[in-house]
Amino acid sequence: MYVCMCYGVTDKAIMQAVEDHGAGNLRELREVMEIGSQCGKCISMTQQIIDSTIIDE
Ligand code: FES
Repeated sequence: MYVCMCYGVTDKAIMQAVEDHGAGNLRELREVMEIGSQCGKCISMTQQIIDSTIIDE
C-alpha cells in the first residue's frame, strides 16, 4: 500500500528501511529515502509504521 503519494513510497519500503538502516523516526528515515517533505499528509502514518516495525522486531 502506498503511504506517501508524493514520493511513491510504500509501507513495505518503510519497513525495509527500518530493518536495513535502523531508522527509528521520520528524521532518520529521511536520511535514507525521500518521504514526508512535500504535503506532509503521510507523516503520522509513516511514524505508525516505523513504530509497529520496531515493536515486531
Ligand atoms: Fe508524503 Fe505528500 S504524501 S509528502
